[in-house]
Amino acid sequence: MHYYFVTGTSRGIGKALAERALQEENARVIGFSRQQSIEHEWYTHHAIDLAQVSDLGKLIDSFFIQLTDAERIVLINNAGTLGDVKYFGSIADTQIDQLFLLNVTAPAILMNHFIRAYQAMEAERIIINVSSGVSQYPVDGWSGYCASKAALDMLSEVAALELEKQNVQNFRVYAVAPGIVDTQMQTDIRKVDEQNFSRLEKFKDYKSSGALDDPSQTAEKYFYLIDHPEKFQEVRQDVREF
Ligand SMILES: NC(=O)c1ccc[n+]([C@@H]2O[C@H](COP(=O)([O-])OP(=O)(O)OC[C@H]3O[C@@H](n4cnc5c(N)ncnc54)[C@H](OP(=O)(O)O)[C@@H]3O)[C@@H](O)[C@H]2O)c1
Repeated sequence: MHYYFVTGTSRGIGKALAERALQEENARVIGFSRQQSIEHEWYTHHAIDLAQVSDLGKLIDSFFIQLTDAERIVLINNAGTLGDVKYFGSIADTQIDQLFLLNVTAPAILMNHFIRAYQAMEAERIIINVSSGVSQYPVDGWSGYCASKAALDMLSEVAALELEKQNVQNFRVYAVAPGIVDTQMQTDIRKVDEQNFSRLEKFKDYKSSGALDDPSQTAEKYFYLIDHPEKFQEVRQDVREF
């Protein structure tokens, strides 16, 4: 059996990833988001606000249960937010807090418990953190978002290093940038005020010129990596290079 734990499954890339996983005959998908939009015999939903770390702490032991028939177990930390697109000096403090809780703290907690639960198993195990190209360079108005994705990349690097140091086999960790994908997040980007984000026109052009990928195409690329981890040695990956 293949088990997929995916955050942010109510829409966008996370929904496409969950739906792609459910195309496999032997898949069980466990999804996490505040809303639920997938109904399927082999899909289990946990309605949770992942930025509420105390709720996550209370529930987490019920997520990563013993999976004695598992051949593959995958955690995809996909849920994320752009946060308050503003320059420093104007950002609401609570928004800074919420962004890092969702984009960094929740994935770190989920990784911690996933590794604890499944480290000693023989099944193939993969953690994928959905990163962004902007983990590598600054974008004005996106301070928290860029920094959170850089942090997620480093969480992935350290987890991979630790598994290697402990000689854990058959367990990979990746931080994978998805490219530019036609989701609610892109719609939200196009609504921000240009004085808070100098790249607004460029992002509007991506949409009008058809440069945005469909989430199902993106999910297909993530599954190419999941199905062929031997082809992907580096922790940091970008689907645009596949
Ligand atoms: N779209 C792009 O071009 C692009 C580019 C680079 C990276 N990414 C990354 O790809 C990932 C998915 O983005 P997307 O474009 O698919 O975004 P999206 O359409 O806005 O979807 C975000 C998902 O995250 C969930 N989510 C948001 N806040 C949550 C919370 N507090 N607790 C639990 N779940 C929450 C949402 O569900 P609920 O609202 O139901 O909770 C939704 O399912 C993100 O990590 C994003 O940074 C996207």
